[in-house]
Amino acid sequence: MTIKYAEFVVSNSNVEKCPKSSLPEYAFIGRSNVGKSSLINMLTSRKSLAKTSGKPGKTQLINHFLINKNWHLVDLPGYGYARVSKTAKKTFQKFITQYFSHREQLVTAFVLVDIRHKPQPIDLDFMTWLGENNIPFSIIFTKADKLKPKAIENHVNDYKTVMLEFWEDMPNYFITSSSKSLGKDEVLGYIQSLNENLK
Ligand code: GTP
Ligand code: MG
Repeated sequence: MTIKYAEFVVSNSNVEKCPKSSLPEYAFIGRSNVGKSSLINMLTSRKSLAKTSGKPGKTQLINHFLINKNWHLVDLPGYGYARVSKTAKKTFQKFITQYFSHREQLVTAFVLVDIRHKPQPIDLDFMTWLGENNIPFSIIFTKADKLKPKAIENHVNDYKTVMLEFWEDMPNYFITSSSKSLGKDEVLGYIQSLNENLK
């Protein structure tokens, strides 16, 4: 799939105020600073469609983008960033979980994890919560440019080992780098195949 059209639609902190349209939707979620907004810019070939920052906690709202006029891409705030105040953190958690529980247009979530780190409880807990709520998801490993191919393989294998303790199968996963445009065709091709299955 080539992205010819990508436009910001709306930001808000209330799932009720998300676009009413029933277009299929794909959400990007993960820890603060994992590279969600950068990945969205890489996938859409736009430098600053989604706002990025070296400082964690940049994205604080549910952001809808209309892609090729027929599906929505959603940039979400990161979870698990300690320096955001406790009250703000609670609000994020609440509207993130409300988004996932109520958004019927959501086809699948992409849970982003930094390929450099060992599996983290917060990510595993979030995936468990998605599973318990019957929300389909794939894993996107980010920042693959930071590791050599052998280390990438080892880290993915570590992840598989941990996942298989909780899950019957390893979820679908992608290895990406926003700075090197790695994994772009794979992620977009997957979204396209899901969109076609909905027809
Ligand atoms: P929040 O909105 O704060 O939750 O963060 P985010 O997950 O949207 O992360 P963002 O895209 O803002 O990126 C965070 C930092 O990681 C920035 O400094 C990016 O330049 C850097 N970054 C993101 N993706 C990559 C990547 O693929 N490779 C490298 N080397 N750096 C990356
Ligand atoms: Mg962001």
